[in-house]
This record gives sequence, C-alpha cells and structure tokens, in this order.
Amino acid sequence: MAKRIFVVGAGTMGAGIAQLAAQKGFETRLFDVSADQRSKAQQGIHKSLMSLLEKGKIDAAEHEAIHGRLCAVDQLNAAESADLVIEAIVENLSVKHEVFRSLESIVSPTCILASNTSSLSIASISSALQQPGRFLGIHFFNPATLMPLVEIIPSVLTNDAVLNEARAMILALGKTVAVCKDTPGFIVNRVARPFYGEALRIYEEGLADFATIDFAMTSIGGFKMGPFELMDYIGNDVNYTVTETVFEAFYYDPRFKPSFTQKRLKEAGLYGRKTGRGFYDYSAEKAEPSKDAALLQQIFKRIIALLINEAYDAVLMQVASPQDVDLAMMKGVNYPKGLLAWSEELGPETVLNQLNSLQERYGEDRYRPNALLKDRVASGIPLV
Ligand code: NAI
Repeated sequence: MAKRIFVVGAGTMGAGIAQLAAQKGFETRLFDVSADQRSKAQQGIHKSLMSLLEKGKIDAAEHEAIHGRLCAVDQLNAAESADLVIEAIVENLSVKHEVFRSLESIVSPTCILASNTSSLSIASISSALQQPGRFLGIHFFNPATLMPLVEIIPSVLTNDAVLNEARAMILALGKTVAVCKDTPGFIVNRVARPFYGEALRIYEEGLADFATIDFAMTSIGGFKMGPFELMDYIGNDVNYTVTETVFEAFYYDPRFKPSFTQKRLKEAGLYGRKTGRGFYDYSAEKAEPSKDAALLQQIFKRIIALLINEAYDAVLMQVASPQDVDLAMMKGVNYPKGLLAWSEELGPETVLNQLNSLQERYGEDRYRPNALLKDRVASGIPLV
C-alpha cells in the first residue's frame, strides 16, 4: 500500500494528522505557509511524542523512528512523491482552490488528494481540479491522534478505486471509517446539532439553567460532558459558526436554527474555556444543578428525542448506513451509545410520542418526527 502522506496546513488538525501518520509508519511531510506555524507544530509534536515516551507507550527506538519519518517542509513542491495529500488549511474555498490547483501541477497522476474540511462541500472544492475523480473528503476529529473516527466523503465525481484506496490508508492509520454522502455537516456535525440547539432552547425558555441541563445529560444520558460544558470546551465561536453554516446549508430548516444566546456570547468574546468565560465563568465556583428528578428526565428525553430524530433523518436521506450513523456518534464525539440503538432501548414509540407532543405544543416544524422513525414504529423492525 501507498506509504507517503503529505499534509498541507500545520495548525491544530494538520499537526495532529501528520503526527498520527508518522506514528503509524507513513513517510510524512508537513507543510505550512507560515514558518511560525511550522515550528509551533514541530514543538507540539515533539512534546506529545516525549510524553508518549515517558509514559512508556513508545520506546526510544520507536520515538526516534517516528521523528525520522516526519519532516516539516517549507515548499509545496515536496508533495511531488506523495501518495496521499491531506489538506488542513484555513476553511476558505478560494484559498483551498488555489492550493489544490498548485498541488495538481506538482503531484503524480495517481496521487490521491483530500480535504479535511468540516463545512465546505467536497464537490465545491473539487471543482478547481483537472482530475476531480482523485479527490475526496477525509474528515478527522480533534484531536486527530486520539479520536477514532474518520468520515470519508466521496464527491459526486470521486472514483470508486480512489475511495477504496483512501479507506485502506485510513484503516492503516488505525482509524474507524464511516463513509458518508457529501451533505452539510457530513454525519457527526449534522446529527449532533440538537445536543446543543435543544439544550439552548430549553435554557432560553427558562425551564432550567446550564448546570441543570448539563447534569441531566451526564447523569441520565451518560454523556461525558453536558451540552454547555462541551460548547465552552469547543469554543462558542467555533460551535456557533458550525451551527450557522449547517443552518444555511440546509436552506434554513428550523431544525438547525442557531440560538441568540450563543450568538451573544460569541459577539461578546465569551468563547468558553479558552477565554476563561462562556456559559460558565471558570474563575468562579460552579453552580449546583437542580436535583429535581422529573425535570432532569424531561430535559434528557427532549434532547435525546431530537438527536434520535436526526439520526433517523441521516439514514432516510442516505447520508450513511444505520451502522455508520451509530458508529460515527460513538467514535467521533464519544456518545455513550449509538442513537439508533438508543432509540430501541428507549422504545421508538416513546421517542415518537415525545416528538409529537413537542410539535403539538409548539406548532413548529423543528419538532416534526422523521418519516423513518414513523416507519420504524409501524413496522416493528429495528434499523440496527
Ligand atoms: P488552524 O487555523 O489551526 O490551522 C490552519 C493552518 O493552515 C494554519 O497553520 C495556517 O498557517 C495554514 N495555512 C493557511 N493558508 C495556507 C496555505 N495557503 N498553504 C498552507 N498552509 C496554509 O485550523 P484547523 O482548526 O487545524 O482547521 C484546518 C481545517 O480542518 C479546516 O478546513 C477545518 O474546517 C478542518 N477541521 C477542523 C477541526 C477542528 O476541530 N479544529 C475538526 C475537523 C476539521
């Protein structure tokens, strides 16, 4: 199998992808236009490998071998011998077009070209290429060295052989692959939206505070972090932008409507952990959640019903298989269970009733139950 990976962009994602590739035995080159970013990435990778060495996860010989396989370069021309190029630069279509046009004049005709984009369509990036058949999306999760999932997204023009070769390489990186359609948010960033959006809605209606909503999702749902802790961790600037992008890309479907509360935090620069304050103030003591069992159940049931509804929708719209939709949420964002499996556990009728009663109460399309969920209830046949 092809063994040379070239990563363009040495920021958060590019540095992680390059480190992983070198750890897994690939000859890896890491390029960035910024010398400062190149050296920051090298320092970060060095620190991370040292910590693996100190913890005994790799030995001295392996440590040296990994460093030997990884090299930061200051010329895009070094992509000449690559078998796979993964682009992880700024999320801007015209800049990505420029980079791919240059790359295509450098790499061999058999080299696979991929983008790690989260929000641009794969088809739109591939339009800059002479050979769009060799291009696809390879979407890692942050941190790329640790998160098991990679979404692979062929565009309408990607060759099957390219998809298969890319999948084999990502499996060789030790990752779990979910193949999905070139649709907004792919699997994870689409299906996960209600985790944030419905939590914000519950807060905005004054039903509960941040701490109580978080506690409902961690204590009853078993999520590692509640929605507000997680938004603060991701950054309200980043998380709000993803929500807004998905909302626009779905032609303003009310299911994906962003929240004013989060927008105001973004506007005020209250991004979360990285600025010391977001939904929570990290210099103050954390507020105690309510322990009202009925309220906690109500919060959990409402958010989980909307998440499950999205999972059914992703399957209905052929974004991915039911198995891959469940796998993606567990391996990409650490959900304790796959959402379709969770629907079976809670009872699909219960989930449907919950959505019906929300839709009746609010009269909003946001809560409309998915057709496949209704089919599931009618047929009695589980999807997973
Ligand atoms: P970042 O801002 O940390 O890094 C981007 C890097 O690209 C910077 O080092 C910058 O100097 C470099 N760059 C800009 N223009 C360039 C060019 N023309 N040639 C070479 N290098 C160039 O960004 P981050 O967060 O690593 O995101 C990169 C890509 O990965 C984006 O497309 C983003 O949507 C996607 N992504 C980000 C995730 C995240 O959690 N941060 C998760 C999954 C995907």
